[in-house]
Amino acid sequence: MSKWKIALASATLLTVGSIQAFAQQSFPSRYITMIVPFAAGGPTDIVGRIVADHMSRTLGQQVVIENVAGVAGTIGAARVAKAEPDGHTLLVGPMSTMSFSPALYPKLAFNPLTDFEPIGIAASAPIMLVTNNTIPATQLSEFTDYLKANPAKLTNGNAGVGSTSHLACLLLNNRVGASVTLVPYRGTGPALQDVVSGQVGYICDQVTSLMSQVQAKAVKPLAVLSPTRSPVLPDVPTASEAGMSGIDMVVWNALFAPKGTPPEIVEKLNSALQKAITDPASREKFLQLGAEPPPESQRSPQALRQIHAADVTKWGEVIRGANIKVE
Ligand code: MLT
Repeated sequence: MSKWKIALASATLLTVGSIQAFAQQSFPSRYITMIVPFAAGGPTDIVGRIVADHMSRTLGQQVVIENVAGVAGTIGAARVAKAEPDGHTLLVGPMSTMSFSPALYPKLAFNPLTDFEPIGIAASAPIMLVTNNTIPATQLSEFTDYLKANPAKLTNGNAGVGSTSHLACLLLNNRVGASVTLVPYRGTGPALQDVVSGQVGYICDQVTSLMSQVQAKAVKPLAVLSPTRSPVLPDVPTASEAGMSGIDMVVWNALFAPKGTPPEIVEKLNSALQKAITDPASREKFLQLGAEPPPESQRSPQALRQIHAADVTKWGEVIRGANIKVE
């Protein structure tokens, strides 16, 4: 290689290196928008607000939550997929939107696996079945008997076709063989309000948003639709313990940036996220709500990439196997 080519190559390397260093040092240069693709008050929103609050302090810029709800989170996720890949627009991506949507929406406006840079998992939580207080059932078998006998009397709230609240209860309804009216909302926050008021019969939601209503006895928890009981509600049996095995859902909520976000910025965001989830005060908030930050081995962007890819495969098979289609 001639001398001038070597000089040019070194200058290029130096320039790339300095741009990368500059990207990391100068980021964030303004506030960060964290899009929650469901309504306020649901589990995605609760998790997003806990980490946004702590990350604002670490990053020295406000991390502002914007709720962009609709079509089970896919509207908000599409917005982030098409945003400038500079780290200033992020998604709080729930397992549902990021893993169920490809099997349900043939014309999805984004590819959850290739249009994002994974940042890291914030927390995971089990799904729980709760009913309003007027339904005459205090355990799962009484509820399924009632559901079988009175499908027309009951309505089932959810956060839209393709949300975890939709899929978990649909699998349960199918097992019972009950055709119930499903009522979609822009998130389980507003859906749960209607269960509390008695307008809607029941919901399957992450324990994160149910805890306060369960503690206030405003709804009845009947079963955890996950492999193990929740440490915050140890008296509530799992569905398998109550006689219905095979509906196991532990839902993660994770941060994603648009594809092409520089690796140095992804690293800075991951480090701020890790500080948020390991901080004793925010960790305590999560645990009290029944949500759990990931173990150390699952906190990197690479770990999220693998878990996400495995869930797209796993839930795609469940959805196709149960012949669930968007009407
Ligand atoms: C879901 O998948 O059901 C969402 O987590 C609901 C929400 O966050 O409101």
